[in-house]
Order: sequence, then structure tokens, then C-alpha cells
Amino acid sequence: MISFKPNPQKPLSFFQQLTDYQITPTIKIEISSDIELIVKNEGERLGLGSFKGLGGMYAVAHLISDQWEKIYGKPLETSEIFTKTIRDMASSLCFVCASAGNHGIAVATGARLLGARSRVYLSESVPASFEKDLLKLEAQVIKKGSTYEASMEAAIADAKHTQAILLADSSWPGYHYPPSLIMEGYTVIADELRREFEQTDHWPSHVYLQAGVGGFAGAMTYMIRHSWQTQPSIYIVEPEYAPCLKASHEAGKPTSVKGSISSMGRLDCKNPSIIAFNILQHSNVHYLTVSEKEAEAATHQLQQHGLITTPSGAAGYAAFIKNKFSHASQAEKEFKPIIFITENNHIK
Ligand SMILES: Cc1ncc(COP(=O)(O)O)c(C=O)c1O
Repeated sequence: MISFKPNPQKPLSFFQQLTDYQITPTIKIEISSDIELIVKNEGERLGLGSFKGLGGMYAVAHLISDQWEKIYGKPLETSEIFTKTIRDMASSLCFVCASAGNHGIAVATGARLLGARSRVYLSESVPASFEKDLLKLEAQVIKKGSTYEASMEAAIADAKHTQAILLADSSWPGYHYPPSLIMEGYTVIADELRREFEQTDHWPSHVYLQAGVGGFAGAMTYMIRHSWQTQPSIYIVEPEYAPCLKASHEAGKPTSVKGSISSMGRLDCKNPSIIAFNILQHSNVHYLTVSEKEAEAATHQLQQHGLITTPSGAAGYAAFIKNKFSHASQAEKEFKPIIFITENNHIK
């Protein structure tokens, strides 16, 4: 079993030094006379359009600190990360990753902030707006393959043949440490909510977490199960075309799936992260899939509430809409759902 013991205070101490760090808002939407939905809007995170900055930026900073410790034999204080000495050292480092869009933005932002370089592999299905944004962030962009998995293989091969540091947001046998840092970064989201709910004592009963490789859902689930005083039902939400976590759960082991390309591009991952799989297997979660049509409809419905996102960002809402009808027949506990808008609509 892979160990994942995150401390949200660590990424928080890093982000609190940045003026762009703010707790993302929770909004309440009245769905019906007896259902009020909590929405945490991660489209506003760090000015980067999605929650992914919390993972990629923190992991870049952590790996640079590790490098410092390796060279100088002493740990770097969090406050020392933004010094010229660190920039000078980081200038020899290049971070390489594959991305469906947002992870690349996160890694490129972190690398630029701390003086390192980045190289991002994008498959042909990634919208052109991401490439433009990455170039603005001074990343080198390489288009490779027709799927996320193909771009990932290219990034892995790159790191093997160059000195670049592979910073993938997924994990597989023998590759855990960088993705576990990324997931530690995401724990900030669940910790912000814990603090908010401790104050209001208004804990959600049902949590919907959309998943690609499962890093976000795994990190959130870990934190909810370990630190929220009132336990909700947790739903892992995947596209019908890419239910790799559901398939893994059913098989009892990490399992790849095959399927068409999904319009939920950031969730269109056919191989699960094994760290996420391990967490979810031990956390009593449920699995839901949403169709292309359901995610599209959810995007439009959120827009009517003034919340602008994409099918990937709206997938949790789509699952909530689907699930609320089955909840009506259960009604054994009060229904206080929460969903996450995981990106805004920076795809024009
Ligand atoms: C907007 C958005 N939502 C959800 C996810 C899913 O996260 P994960 O791949 O960690 O499951 C991603 C991943 O890139 C994303 O960009």
C-alpha cells in the first residue's frame, strides 16, 4: 500500500506567501424548496482558471527545495523559496509533464515563479487556448499524440532521455513521490472547507468529486475521511467514456479503460492514478458516471446561475442532478450536497 499522509499546512504556508492566494468562494444555490446546493468555485483559484495550480505549483516548489537540501544538506525554510539564490539554482532545472491543459498551466506557472524552465506535452485534443496560455508562461510546448495517455508517454520518454524532472499528476508502480506532492497541494481545498464548516456547523451530507486520473478526488476524499468531523457520502464522478476509477474499483486493482474521446477533456483519462485508487478503495465511496449530454446540460444550467464553466468543470453538478432523484426515495438523512466547479471557461 502506497503511503499518503499529507499535511495541508505545508502547501498553505507556501501559498500564503503569494498575493494571488485567496480562499475560493462557496456559493449557495437554491435548487428546490428543500435542497440548497453548496458550490465551491475553483475556477477562481490563484487566477489560473482551475484548482490545479495548488498541486503543480506546490510540487515545483517542493522539488526545488528538495534539490537545495540535496546540495546543501539542510532544509530550506518556506520563506527562503523566493530568494535570488533559489532562482539561480532553479535556473538549471526543467520540469516536464503531459497535460490535458490545467496541470501544464500549474507547472509552467510554478517553474516561472521560481526561476526554472518547463516543457509541456499536449495531445491534439487539448484546446488551442491552453497552448497559447502556456507559451505566455514561457513553457516549451510539444504537441504529441491524439490522447492524454500518448502525451504522457512522450513526457516520460523525454524525462528519461534528458535531465528534466518528470512532474506527472498521475502515479503508477514505482512513480509516487511527485504526484503525492501534487495531491498534497490539493488538500488545501478540503482544509478550507473544514475550517468553514467548523465555523458554520453546516456540514454537507453528499460530496460530488469529478475525476480524471483521480488526484483531486483522492486528495479530497482522504482529507474528508481524516479531518471532517461530520462524514458525508462521497461520489466519484467520471465521464461515461473514461470510468477508469470505477472499473478499477470493480476489478479490485488499477484498471485501464477504452472509450471514445470525451468532451469532458480534463476528465478524459483512461488510466487511474494508483495513489488515488488506493485511497478510494479504503474510503467507502460511490461511483457515478455522467454522459456527454448530461455534462453539457449541467454546464448550461450552471450558466443560468451565473457560474461559467466547461463540461469538465460541471461534471460534479451533472452527477448531483442525476443523484438527487434517487436521493428523494432514500431520504434517510438530510440532503445537503456540495459540488465543485473545477475550472472556469478559459477555453474560448
Ligand atoms: C478542471 C479539471 N477538473 C477535474 C480534473 C480531474 O483531476 P484529476 O486528474 O486529478 O482526477 C482536472 C484535471 O486536470 C481538471 O483540469
